[in-house]
This record gives sequence, structure tokens and C-alpha cells, in this order.
Amino acid sequence: MDRYCVMGNPVDHSKSPWIHARFAELTGEPVEYGKRLVPMDGFEEGLRAFRAEGGKGCNVTVPFKFEAARLADFRSARAALAGACNVLRFEADGIHGENTDGIGLVADLQRNAGISLGGRDVLLVGAGGAAAGVLGPLLEARPRRIVVANRTVEKAQALVQRHAMLANETYADLQACALHAVRGAFDVVLNATATSMAGTGVPVDAAVLKPGALACDMMYGPAAQGFLDWAREHGAVGRDGLGMLVEQAAEAFQFWRGIRPPSAQVLAELRREMER
Ligand code: ATR
Repeated sequence: MDRYCVMGNPVDHSKSPWIHARFAELTGEPVEYGKRLVPMDGFEEGLRAFRAEGGKGCNVTVPFKFEAARLADFRSARAALAGACNVLRFEADGIHGENTDGIGLVADLQRNAGISLGGRDVLLVGAGGAAAGVLGPLLEARPRRIVVANRTVEKAQALVQRHAMLANETYADLQACALHAVRGAFDVVLNATATSMAGTGVPVDAAVLKPGALACDMMYGPAAQGFLDWAREHGAVGRDGLGMLVEQAAEAFQFWRGIRPPSAQVLAELRREMER
């Protein structure tokens, strides 16, 4: 068996072991996947130890994605732009880093939710690690416009600045603004802030939603409920982050094994499992 794991702090509620076990069963790949709680100051040590034990690679979750990008010997263009890695692969020549959060989100929106991002107006709320991980792939899906809105406007401006070249290449209108300064309405509204986790409510006015807009929170489970209720109350279609979770895992599995597992099936199974 080839060994992989998810490293984070906390990591006890991670669904990744369940998801990757199903991917391994369905593809017949000899993959064994565990989870490792890493002390806050012990990521590098934990990573080296898992590699020395024969691990083939790992997922990285909060709060170590930035450190993972620094420790990787090779970073994909996507990981370099995000400045964060959620997937590492150990090879003879070093540690290869990738970021599959954004392509996972885009895959979920386009394949599972059935919307096309091409030509659409997208509002990305937040400018922390979660937003940084998805902005590049969102631009690559060629929306007409993306507005990044954040409580601290300077962080949104810095994120937009870093993606200016990609926005230029993809002919997207990319802007930054403060949460209260968002103008106009959007086809897709993405919540990449920590507000759901903190239970502090939705940080933008409902006027940002076009009728029938897709409103997606990157959280799932009870943490996403407030956002989903808000979306429904204002005529939008709500979506939680469970699909993104499964799709980023499918992309990670492909990064390790060269084969893409049947993610839509596993997402449906995981939803049933969580509703029990
Ligand atoms: P993550 O890696 O989960 O994105 P982060 O980097 O700490 O975590 O970013 C958290 C995001 O949630 C930021 O966009 C943050 O806004 P600031 O950059 O202004 O801090 C946002 N956020 C957290 N609490 C918030 C709140 N109560 N209202 C609005 N935005 C909030």
C-alpha cells in the first residue's frame, strides 16, 4: 500500500480519510490514507517524519498551507500564485507542491452545480488564504468580472494586484473593494471568509445577489447553514463547500496517482453519510 495522509491542526473532523478511502476502492489504487495532528510549530518536522517513514505525499490543511508552499522544492504555477499548497507529493528529487482548492471549487460549480462561469459576474468575499487559493482558477474559467471584497480592503487590493497579469490574459475585469462598497449584483457569490465558522453572519448585503444567483460558502455541515438560509431567503440558490472538498480531493488523488476518481458519486455518498 502507498501511504498518504492529511496534516493539520485541528484534523480530527477531517472528511479526507473517508473520501480518499472511497477513491481508492473505486479506482482499485493501492492507497492507504490517514490523518496526522501536527503541533502548531511542528509542521516541517511532521512532514519530514512522514516522508522518512515512506509516505508518498499528503494533503495539508489549516493552518499549514502557506508553510507547505515554502517547504516545497517545486511549486506548480497555480500553487506559486496562491502562495499556498494543499497537496504535496514526495519524489526522489524533492517535494512537489500543488494547490487544488481552486480547481476543486471550479469543478464543483461547473460539473456538480451545473453553472458555467464563462462570461459571468462573480463576487469573491474574503481575501485570506481561502480566497487566495481560488482566485487564479476562477479567472482561468473566464468570467466577465470578479470583484474581491474584504473587510480589510488592502488585503483585497494586494490579492488583486498579484493576479493582475492573469486577469489581463483572461480578459477579466478584476477589482478590489471594501465589504460595504460592493456595487451591482452578481451571478455567483462566493463566501471565502471565516464568518460562517465564527457564526457572525453573512458579511455582504443581499443586494449583491442577482435573482437566482448561485451563492456558495466554502464551509460545509452546520457551519454553512446560516449562509444557505440567507441565500434561500433572498432568492438565490445556496451551495455549501462539500462539493469543493470532494473535488479538491479528486484533483489531489490525480496529482498523486495520475487517475481521476469518480468524484460526483463520492460527493453523493458523502452527503448521504452526513445526513444520517
Ligand atoms: P482563511 O485561510 O480561512 O481564509 P484567513 O487568512 O484568516 O483565513 O482569512 C479570513 C478571512 O475572513 C479574511 O478575509 C477576513 O477578513 P480580514 O482580511 O479583514 O481579516 C475574513 N473575516 C474574518 N472575520 C470576519 C468578519 N467578522 N467579518 C468579515 N470578514 C471577516
